[in-house]
Amino acid sequence: MTYDYWTDKTVMVTGGAGFLGSHFVEELRHRNDAVEIFVPRSDEYDLRNRDEIQRAFEDSGADTVIHLAATVGGIGANAANPGRYFYDNAIMGVELLEQARQYGVDKFSILGTICAYPKHTEVPFSEEDLFDGYPEETNAPYGIAKKALLTQSKAYREQWGFNSIYLLPVNLYGPRDDFDLETSHVIPAIIRKCIEARERGDDTITAWGTGEPTREFLYVEDAADGILDATERYDSSDPVNLGSGEEISIRGLVNMIAEMTDFGGDIEWDTSKPDGQPRRKLDTSRAKTRFDWEASTRFREGLKETIEWYEANRDDLHE
Ligand SMILES: NC(=O)c1ccc[n+]([C@@H]2O[C@H](COP(=O)([O-])OP(=O)(O)OC[C@H]3O[C@@H](n4cnc5c(N)ncnc54)[C@H](OP(=O)(O)O)[C@@H]3O)[C@@H](O)[C@H]2O)c1
Repeated sequence: MTYDYWTDKTVMVTGGAGFLGSHFVEELRHRNDAVEIFVPRSDEYDLRNRDEIQRAFEDSGADTVIHLAATVGGIGANAANPGRYFYDNAIMGVELLEQARQYGVDKFSILGTICAYPKHTEVPFSEEDLFDGYPEETNAPYGIAKKALLTQSKAYREQWGFNSIYLLPVNLYGPRDDFDLETSHVIPAIIRKCIEARERGDDTITAWGTGEPTREFLYVEDAADGILDATERYDSSDPVNLGSGEEISIRGLVNMIAEMTDFGGDIEWDTSKPDGQPRRKLDTSRAKTRFDWEASTRFREGLKETIEWYEANRDDLHE
């Protein structure tokens, strides 16, 4: 299928080889198989460096930027690297937007994060409440570094008419997620623990925290679809949540994964580990009204795809 919007465009997808990026590039090709796509890999273009960003624009001639590159990780990785998570994410975004403006880019889509929301935001999280308080402490360096780009987006639109948009996806999951226990988010970590425990015949697995917080998860292919729809149809710096609208407790999630991976043992809760934000659920109505997007994958269905992908690929991942 070819959408007119992408015809003759040259799209720079930063982070285009990452988890979300690889799905995004596939979905973009699916919408227009002739579109020029440029993915600046970090070993060739370190996007924290202004000269290398300028070289990326010169080498690609990009007129559209989808900024997915980031230093990301789960709660443990965030807690261990607050300085790096702040610096990398702030500097990459700020410099890329500035160089894109100077280069004359037509459209720039920025990926924010719901880690930017205040710790005690009223549920469901509304975009109007983004600046109403300080984020949960563990996520704050990452969240605030990314939230600064929202202010930059609005300021550049006001002063120079630069067309950027700002999307806030909830926690993502799906095939090709990060299954390294040092850096992974909760879903891949629990899938891996359950499958390995099942194979070793262990009686228990350990999960972090109390199990009481709630989370919402968005299937990665739905996220890619939402970014594409927004880039095609939305031209405002008002931030927009991308979520599934389904809220689940961490305890419910772990039980569901244990059942779906046939792990029959017990779950031990390590309450010395942080819980993170108490509740996360988004108000997803703005995406529907502004660019007619909503998620289409039910949670159980997405989880099944993710578990099947991991079972089929784990030998290659953990060689
Ligand atoms: N995963 C989630 O749950 C989630 C939720 C909300 C928002 N997001 C946002 O979605 C985006 C993608 O996340 P992801 O989970 O797909 O992350 P990921 O798999 O770690 O991918 C991030 C990519 O960023 C690139 N990158 C990192 N540092 C770079 C640098 N200095 N120069 C150039 N490229 C660099 C890496 O490229 P190389 O492979 O070339 O090294 C990597 O492929 C991020 O902006 C993240 O904040 C993710």
